[in-house]
Amino acid sequence: MAGKIPQGFIDELLARIDIVDIIDGRVPLKKAGKEYKACCPFHEERTPSFTVSSSKQFYHCFGCGAHGTAISFLMQHEHMEFREAVENLAVRVGLEIPTESADPKIRQESLDLLTIMEQADQYFRSQLRAHPRSESAICYLKGRGITGEIAADFGLGYAPDGWQNLLRALGGDGKRRHLLWVGGLLIKKDEGGYYDRFRNRIVFPIHDRRGRVVGFGGRALGDDEPKYLNSPETPLFHKGSELYGLFKARGAIKEKGFSIVVEGYMDVVSLSQYGLQNTVATLGTATTRVHLERLFRYSEEIVFCFDGDRAGREAAWRALETALPLIGAGRQVGFLFLAEGHDPDSLVREEGGARFTERLRAATPLPDYLLNTLCGQVELARMDGRARLVELATPLIQRVPEGALRELLLDRLADLAQIQRTALSGLVGREEARSPSRAPYRPPQPVRKSLVRVALALLLQHPRLARIAVQVDSLQELKTVPGVDVLIKVVHTVTEHPGLSTASLLERFRDSDQAPHLEKLAVWDHMIPDEHVESEFRNTIAKLGSRLRDEQTKLLLSKSRSEPLNEQEKARLRELLSRDRP
Ligand code: UTP
Ligand code: MN
Repeated sequence: MAGKIPQGFIDELLARIDIVDIIDGRVPLKKAGKEYKACCPFHEERTPSFTVSSSKQFYHCFGCGAHGTAISFLMQHEHMEFREAVENLAVRVGLEIPTESADPKIRQESLDLLTIMEQADQYFRSQLRAHPRSESAICYLKGRGITGEIAADFGLGYAPDGWQNLLRALGGDGKRRHLLWVGGLLIKKDEGGYYDRFRNRIVFPIHDRRGRVVGFGGRALGDDEPKYLNSPETPLFHKGSELYGLFKARGAIKEKGFSIVVEGYMDVVSLSQYGLQNTVATLGTATTRVHLERLFRYSEEIVFCFDGDRAGREAAWRALETALPLIGAGRQVGFLFLAEGHDPDSLVREEGGARFTERLRAATPLPDYLLNTLCGQVELARMDGRARLVELATPLIQRVPEGALRELLLDRLADLAQIQRTALSGLVGREEARSPSRAPYRPPQPVRKSLVRVALALLLQHPRLARIAVQVDSLQELKTVPGVDVLIKVVHTVTEHPGLSTASLLERFRDSDQAPHLEKLAVWDHMIPDEHVESEFRNTIAKLGSRLRDEQTKLLLSKSRSEPLNEQEKARLRELLSRDRP
């Protein structure tokens, strides 16, 4: 299970890397004063407004407003998930992400959950071997051509018929029953108590990337509905990121240089049995970006092989759309279309592994699939049909990262549509956001200057100022001023973790509602020269204090004119009036 990454680890990671190196490797930077500049990779521009600050460990584009830490950069530019980006950076500096939660209670709970999943896996497997009525299951598997060897290889099991088999075998006490429920193996009854989720089914264990059982899929033996039942989403199991068979297939994917993505559990098992061990399946969901990114880590080529029915063709087109932003630069995607009525399982059993491998070699490359499909939707003989082709194709081609592949796609489209290549470039270039994961174009919003914003901006840009803020005893007194609560939070964070850079500080607020506000302030150009930063910060806080006192004084004075003040109010007013005005 991917627990939360401890914040201390992120701090250490960001302290060890240099954002300038990270970005420079992908977008060549030029030194400009204290900072580095380049043409922004997130929008079209001719003069560089993309700025990378080494001191803040932060980038910011004055043109489109894109900004963030080294982690954000990998997420935006390389389309990585948060965790993947952290991992990528960690590998560079030889750090390893602590795998479990730092909180011993949570750690124990997830260990217990993994243990009980493992026990459930053992249980299902033992039932396939030893349950008195397991012949039906064994017969079913044999009938589908699955040998005992391959069943053992995939750890196939049997959930016997009945409502309380697993419950009785493993749910010895309340805590264990609760864990089995959290793991998705038991279902809670309305009237209290639990029953088994998987009943009278062949069970396929699903492993995470470290080979630990995190979920199950269950195939009905007969015509029971649904045909397949999967574990629900649990703390361990996320369909959008797990792939069935990946743990086992990793070696073969690396060795063969490509992965095969199919729709069904049975397809994985059968292809593997016929020598195509580099096969994985999505778990009854559409292919996600995370799936593809995980696969691209093992090889640069992916071949989709979905069923030869309408659903399969639709799944293929969606997979194409998901893959567009990830291809090029060596990464290839192909599609193998099967005849109506076939799925990989049935076909490989009919023709054998060698013929299937040939078919894979001849899979349709993504660019051809893309253009052929669209050409099929228009009348190329008509000028307006060709215009339609351009309209359909350009938004898709735009999602392909800039590079040779995108250029070639445009060349080919120009050919097909009989349009000038330059005209086409114009159509494509004008669009600002070229892929869905790119930040949509937002002209930077001017920050309205206020004392609190100035203080917060200075603090974020120069975290060492927290020291001064702590000395300024009036900060607590200012609690009621809007925005000061955030200021205090930031001061606390920096005092607890001295030495944080702007980037690490912002990473600590990544998931908070304040994040967008803080990020804006972190890049806000308040025009205060470095040498005045300390005094300006002191002044700002002092001004905040005196303004607050002025307001309170006015309020109390006007109140005293209409009604008598109580003792507390009188004392406060005396204190306020006796204070030196700046
Ligand atoms: P298919 O219906 O194509 O199943 O569903 P299959 O793998 O060919 O099944 P067999 O050969 O009849 O045994 C493909 C995948 O979609 C999910 C499962 O992950 C399945 O492997 N699915 C299908 C479900 O989750 N629930 C269902 O009811 C059906
Ligand atoms: Mn099938």
